[in-house]
Amino acid sequence: MTQQGRFHLPIALLTACVAVAAPALASPQKGPAQAATTPGGTCLTCHLQLDEPALKNPAVGFQHDVHDRPGLGCVACHGGDPTADDPEDAMSAKHGFKGAPNPGEIPRLCGSCHANEVLIRKFAPNLPTDQLSQYLTSVHGKLNSKGDTKVATCISCHGVHGIYAANDPRSSVYPTRVVDTCAKCHADAKLMAPYGIPTDQVAEYKKSVHFKALTDQNDLSAPTCNDCHGSHGATPPGVSSISNVCGTCHPQNMDLFQKSPHGKAFADLGMGACEACHGHHDIAKPTDDLVGLQKGAACLQCHDSGDPGGEAAIAIRTALELATDTDSRATQEVAEAQRKGMLMEDADIELQTAHEEIVKARLQVHLAALATVNEHTSKSVTAAKKALELAAAARHEIHVRRTGLSIAFVFIVFAIILLVIKIRG
Ligand code: HEC
Ligand code: HEC
Ligand code: HEC
Ligand code: HEC
Ligand code: HEC
Ligand code: HEC
Ligand code: HEC
Ligand code: HEC
Ligand code: HEC
Repeated sequence: MTQQGRFHLPIALLTACVAVAAPALASPQKGPAQAATTPGGTCLTCHLQLDEPALKNPAVGFQHDVHDRPGLGCVACHGGDPTADDPEDAMSAKHGFKGAPNPGEIPRLCGSCHANEVLIRKFAPNLPTDQLSQYLTSVHGKLNSKGDTKVATCISCHGVHGIYAANDPRSSVYPTRVVDTCAKCHADAKLMAPYGIPTDQVAEYKKSVHFKALTDQNDLSAPTCNDCHGSHGATPPGVSSISNVCGTCHPQNMDLFQKSPHGKAFADLGMGACEACHGHHDIAKPTDDLVGLQKGAACLQCHDSGDPGGEAAIAIRTALELATDTDSRATQEVAEAQRKGMLMEDADIELQTAHEEIVKARLQVHLAALATVNEHTSKSVTAAKKALELAAAARHEIHVRRTGLSIAFVFIVFAIILLVIKIRG
């Protein structure tokens, strides 16, 4: 017991009474006797009164913690007697008090319950109980077992004394907050230096379409770090299995890729599937400029104009270019006719088809076969040309109407002049 602890004891006990009485006042069903067995017990009431932040903050944070439940409480992790007012007694080894665990002990401490299916089921029937076993297979877990104190343990990701359910927006593992949680270490060049791995993942990921979808559109189906790497399991699981992860959300691209000449070739070369062309952390919104052999095209990394892949790349790009050019010309001309008051419903339907076929053609790029891309680009061009014809017809009609209108106007003016002459005369 330190000097400081003793000094605050009387105040602690006094306020303990107040704290114990307060919930009783708030909820008339609970008598003071029941309130005395609140999950935090005397550990909580005393620690709330301590001045030193390291001793007080755990108690403050704990009041929002998922473990603040009857049957758990501070003793769930620290042991001790939560009914004893005397600190020596409350925090004595004879009551199983363990003090603050060190990083090497934490995974097994948390796992002592979280891997215990019977116990967890009593509190939360749907909560998985595989976190510890998974963690032990991860790079984090393996290094932790070897005594490395810098890798992530359960509390690096979940926090402690303020642990929330994973689906609670306040949780540090909530989808929109995971990036910052991993960034604490993975964007810290000094901390990561001894390991010799890059520290650009967070910065790169923040440039990606995925991060934009997650943050700008609040699209929780877009992946954050743990969707690709796993939350507890082996991280990373290896190039080929991580590529399969893309396929869980982009199944059509994956399906075509696997049927393409690249599917087998990449597997034989031990290369990832999607990353070769899209990168992994900084995945950008793809454009047609990614196909072909011009600067910036993905195909250029491995093909040149002499080989069949390179020839196909150029031909695919030319086909896409023709389709998008025709489509945008048609879109413009139809819009122009609409602005002039023409009804262009039929042309709109053709344009819709033209757009959709381009989307399909872009998807077919993953099969890396000119024929299937062409199939869709030519449907697109045909539809866009129909729209162009309809726009031309509309232009013609506008012209006819205008001429008719001008002639009518001349007649009317003429008639008025005649009328005026007649009245005067
Ligand atoms: C009447 C006040 C009081 C009560 C009751 C009390 N503590 Fe403490 N606790 C302290 C003080 C003061 C310290 C710091 C001095 C020390 O380590 O003894 C401390 C230290 C701790 C530490 C840090 C020890 C370390 O290893 O760094 C933990 C963990 C802790 N208490 C948990 C508990 C738990 C769990 C209970 C209930 C079973 C509890 N305390 C009950 C006053 C109290
Ligand atoms: C879910 C498990 C868990 C529960 C419940 C829990 N703690 Fe802790 N506590 C820990 C862990 C893990 C650490 C070590 C933290 C670290 O290394 O940063 C710790 C550390 C502490 C420390 C030392 C802090 C320091 O910086 O030295 C105190 C004091 C403490 N806990 C008090 C409490 C009190 C009081 C309660 C209840 C109000 C409580 N704890 C509930 C897991 C828990
Ligand atoms: C590298 C970060 C990280 C570490 C280390 C980590 N977790 Fe998690 N944990 C997460 C993320 C992210 C989620 C939420 C997504 C999910 O459910 O997979 C999560 C979810 C959970 C859940 C909710 C249920 C579930 O599995 O979906 C529990 C319980 C949990 N973790 C316990 C633990 C325990 C116990 C440890 C230590 C053995 C641990 N975690 C280590 C990141 C981590
Ligand atoms: C004494 C057993 C016990 C210990 C030790 C324990 N927990 Fe828990 N934990 C539980 C129980 C039971 C629940 C379910 C509570 C509920 O849903 O009401 C839970 C819930 C959680 C959740 C929320 C899961 C979700 O998404 O619903 C997380 C995260 C978590 N614990 C992490 C930890 C971490 C990290 C540690 C170690 C620092 C730890 N737990 C230590 C028993 C324990
Ligand atoms: C407490 C610091 C810390 C936190 C938080 C943390 N990590 Fe780590 N992580 C490390 C350290 C240290 C290594 C070991 C690096 C090594 O040996 O390659 C590591 C290794 C990894 C590796 C393996 C790298 C490799 O190929 O060797 C991956 C992947 C990883 N972490 C992902 C994550 C993700 C995703 C999160 C967030 C959900 C996260 N980490 C949170 C410290 C942390
Ligand atoms: C869309 C999937 C995806 C997302 C999201 C993602 N990663 Fe990765 N990550 C990968 C792939 C693929 C690799 C490369 C694996 C390999 O080469 O072994 C990788 C590699 C890593 C590595 C190993 C070192 C390196 O750079 O090659 C670390 C560490 C890592 N990622 C951390 C993170 C963190 C932190 C986040 C969140 C900011 C994140 N990743 C988000 C797919 C992803
Ligand atoms: C957890 C689901 C998920 C995972 C895993 C995932 N993505 Fe995505 N991806 C999305 C969502 C959601 C979007 C944004 C919505 C959209 O544009 O389709 C997106 C967008 C994209 C886009 C931009 C599409 C466009 O038209 O703008 C590309 C390219 C992409 N992802 C590639 C990948 C690659 C490569 C991987 C693996 C390294 C991957 N994704 C992993 C869900 C996922
Ligand atoms: C050989 C290079 C290459 C590989 C491998 C590749 N892509 Fe693509 N991907 C492209 C190109 C090029 C585009 C842009 C097409 C366009 O806009 O003309 C694209 C576009 C996309 C798009 C946006 C268009 C659409 O289909 O919605 C997504 C999503 C996508 N890729 C996901 C993936 C996934 C997932 C994988 C892995 C299964 C993958 N890609 C593998 C080259 C590739
Ligand atoms: C990371 C390297 C890599 C990238 C990037 C890449 N390819 Fe390939 N491609 C290969 C390999 C390897 C083969 C199989 C060996 C071969 O036939 O040359 C192949 C084969 C092909 C084939 C079949 C050629 C044949 O012999 O019939 C086509 C078509 C093709 N690629 C088109 C593309 C297109 C289009 C792109 C860009 C969107 C692209 N590739 C990007 C490596 C790549």
